[in-house]
Amino acid sequence: MIRKCLFPAAGYGTRFLPATKAMPKEMLPIVNKPLIQYGVEEAIEAGLHQIGIISGRGKRAIEDHFDISYELEHQISGTAKEALLNQIRNVIDKCTFSYTRQVEMHGLGHAILTGETLVGSEPFAVLLADDFCANDDDGVLKQMVDLFAIHQCSIVAIEEVPMDQTQNYGVIAGDEIEPGLYQVTEMVEKPAPENAPSNLAIIGRYILTPDIFDILRQTKPGRAGEIQITDAIAAQAKSGKVLAYKFKGRRFDCGAIEGFVEATNFVYENYYTHGNNYPNRKL
Ligand code: UTP
Repeated sequence: MIRKCLFPAAGYGTRFLPATKAMPKEMLPIVNKPLIQYGVEEAIEAGLHQIGIISGRGKRAIEDHFDISYELEHQISGTAKEALLNQIRNVIDKCTFSYTRQVEMHGLGHAILTGETLVGSEPFAVLLADDFCANDDDGVLKQMVDLFAIHQCSIVAIEEVPMDQTQNYGVIAGDEIEPGLYQVTEMVEKPAPENAPSNLAIIGRYILTPDIFDILRQTKPGRAGEIQITDAIAAQAKSGKVLAYKFKGRRFDCGAIEGFVEATNFVYENYYTHGNNYPNRKL
């Protein structure tokens, strides 16, 4: 059973400068809710209530967001605006939040290894909040947790991307063992299209078994001199079973301006104007 979800959130978010100079990228709002809150709500929906955040310099707003603001609550108490805090209050009530700091940014693999102290030796999920996923049925993490219950191995979420974009993603090769589910045979971080083993790109949702930490400790810096989670999962796939799952739903790359604007328009038009905040299912 999976109880914990790690949120690596130590990156600099340089593509969003100057907005991210003093504010964490994860706090950028899609309409009226920060990216990381959507992520935590997806984790809650999947039954994961122990939230571990890999934080870094300049990220304090995340801690404040997942805490009670007594002055603010006092100020709006008894007014119609009180309801605007209902969702975040619900999130705070349902979860525990633990933080650790990645002191030097040596990549996503290194960030996840930094989170070992929050995870221990149990399987866990990883959610990159800047990959915003929208789905009216089960959220992506819920879909993956259900798969883990059957297969008990690491699982990465994938989607098909245009072949000329493979250099922006980790890309897998694998054998399709059932529709949309692949046993991974190979994984490459940001390959040029001519070297990409497929157009099946990894997105920011993972379930990892805890042996990944030992593998990460042995993983040498790869592309861009960073410790790549893709390299570690590729090693895990060589010695055991790793699955890649074509998730149901729509992903927006909110680490880039275009994806962020698309997600904003999508949530505004499909949910907000109909009186709903996304997700409109009960958590
Ligand atoms: P990105 O590749 O999007 O990097 O990281 P970034 O720094 O956030 O953004 P840009 O490219 O400079 O605009 C993917 C995820 O991994 C986390 C980031 O916070 C983000 O959630 N990350 C990355 C870390 O926590 N630590 C790292 O050393 C690198």
